[in-house]
Amino acid sequence: MEKRDMLYEGKAKKVFTTDNSDTLIIEYKDQATAFNGRKRAIIPGKGIVNNRMSNFLFEVLERNGIETHYIKELSERESCVKKVKIFPIEVIVRNVVAGSMAQRLGLEEGTRLKQRILEYCYKSDALGDPLINEYYIYALELATKQQLEKIADMAFKVNSILVEYFTNIGVDLIDFKLEFGLCNGRVVVADEISPDTCRFWDSVTKEKLDKDRFRRDLGNTQEAYLEMLRRRTEENIMP
Ligand code: C5P
Repeated sequence: MEKRDMLYEGKAKKVFTTDNSDTLIIEYKDQATAFNGRKRAIIPGKGIVNNRMSNFLFEVLERNGIETHYIKELSERESCVKKVKIFPIEVIVRNVVAGSMAQRLGLEEGTRLKQRILEYCYKSDALGDPLINEYYIYALELATKQQLEKIADMAFKVNSILVEYFTNIGVDLIDFKLEFGLCNGRVVVADEISPDTCRFWDSVTKEKLDKDRFRRDLGNTQEAYLEMLRRRTEENIMP
């Protein structure tokens, strides 16, 4: 596969066209940003962890019947994915109160929810990804009813699969963000699933093993990312 023009450079990734019009190459960067790009740093090796971990989790999802954009890993930072049309919706699943939910509702971080929550945000850096709901999605034609029902169903299935996997490697999956795309009329999971897009807490110590270490200046960010990769490769427990 030949890597051609850079189509887009985001905060954490670059996307390239290839000699095949149906596929793209994603290159993961070590650049970390938070608070809508206002805070920036380089976390050495982050791109490698996110690439490997995303690919591994996409394979786990595919084995469990969830379609994703993933095709194959090309190098430690590069992967080949299907070209999809991304829905301009960030889909967040929460199992435990944390982050913006704790702030918005004045709830204590770490409180386990009686049932999981699905949240939608409008994907717009300029607006800071504002919270929306189904009514906005239909009124603004961001997705059809059938597509959104599929997205919600897939998001909950992804949650069940990931919770089971992470429990087996001693990690609580607190919350995470998914993006979905359309590929030949089918809804697929796209973007990435990594410590940049999930909250991971050690099941015993509750130590944070994700991007909150960078957002909140907790230190040892690189170590936390590498620890997540280490647990992945050491354990052979796969759903
Ligand atoms: O900040 P908030 O609590 O809403 O984040 C919920 C989850 O979604 C976290 O795991 C966070 O890492 C992820 N997220 C993301 N990209 C965003 C917003 C949130 O990956 N733009």
